[in-house]
Amino acid sequence: MDRNDQDTSVKVAVRIRPQNAKEQVDMCRVCTFVTPGEPQVVLGRDKAFTYDYVFDTGTEQVQLYTSCVEKLVEGCFSGLNATVLAYGQTGSGKTYTMGTGFDVTVLPDEQGVVPRAVHHLFNGINSRIQDAIKEKRDPPQFDVSAQFLELYNEEIIDLFDPSRDTSNSKRLKIHETHEGVIYVDGAVVQSVKSESETLDALKRGALSRTVGSTNMNAQSSRSHAIFTISVSQKRPVLQSTDASDSAGSQDWETLTAKFHFVDLAGSERLKRTGATGERAKEGISINCGLVSICVHMYN
Ligand SMILES: Nc1ncnc2c1ncn2[C@@H]1O[C@H](COP(=O)(O)OP(=O)(O)O)[C@@H](O)[C@H]1O
Ligand SMILES: [Mg+2]
Repeated sequence: MDRNDQDTSVKVAVRIRPQNAKEQVDMCRVCTFVTPGEPQVVLGRDKAFTYDYVFDTGTEQVQLYTSCVEKLVEGCFSGLNATVLAYGQTGSGKTYTMGTGFDVTVLPDEQGVVPRAVHHLFNGINSRIQDAIKEKRDPPQFDVSAQFLELYNEEIIDLFDPSRDTSNSKRLKIHETHEGVIYVDGAVVQSVKSESETLDALKRGALSRTVGSTNMNAQSSRSHAIFTISVSQKRPVLQSTDASDSAGSQDWETLTAKFHFVDLAGSERLKRTGATGERAKEGISINCGLVSICVHMYN
């Protein structure tokens, strides 16, 4: 597909992570070459692939965020939904890029996509309210809520549900309303009022994710994690300048937007991970689970 095609709403970015310590010690060669000034990566001698964005090993977190995520977050204020999905084999940098690991103290420069997006969102909310107050307009009202689900072996796990580890935890199911809105029945929708409240909730959920290990990465996550932020904005409808009844009642409009952040399980093939038994079965259902994820995110 023509990557300049404005009709397509899917953009693909490739990020190449720097070599890790083991790869450096083993003297592994870097087999990727990014064509300067082009979103193109060349593998080996002559296999060139072009994407919407290509980020080479030296790319900082902030660069990735400002080039491909920032405007999507801004779109939330106009009622546009968006999804950012990280795909790649275990150890390729999905969790690092999304910023949903929280297992170590992350330096501000190393923050990934989600904390940056949450920061941007609440900054945007506060500045819209402040601007309205300064200009003596009715300020917009925002309602933000978060949901954090994990898809593991085709089972949906609610990372915000403290009772989910007990044997009587309910099984969550995907439903569709008459209007075609897809939702997960019974999943906790947590109202969040600030950046720190949202990140605290995300941290708590992230720490309880199901993790297993394969030869590829000892701490690898074997499940898909979907963090969703819903924004509802009630704002005054701008009056046309020639309106004669300026003293009339104010009309309000409500805009809603959903932002999904998805950190997928490793995309590696079973053979290469040396996974057997339960782990191998997991690998298979991880890929079946992808289909359900796509259905869930369609809304
Ligand atoms: N762009 C990067 N710069 C520096 N370190 C990175 C980068 N991407 C990944 N890493 C490191 O590589 C390791 C594997 O990344 P991780 O995000 O856990 O992979 P995945 O989630 O795809 O399995 C982690 O230790 C992470 O900190
Ligand atoms: Mg990961």
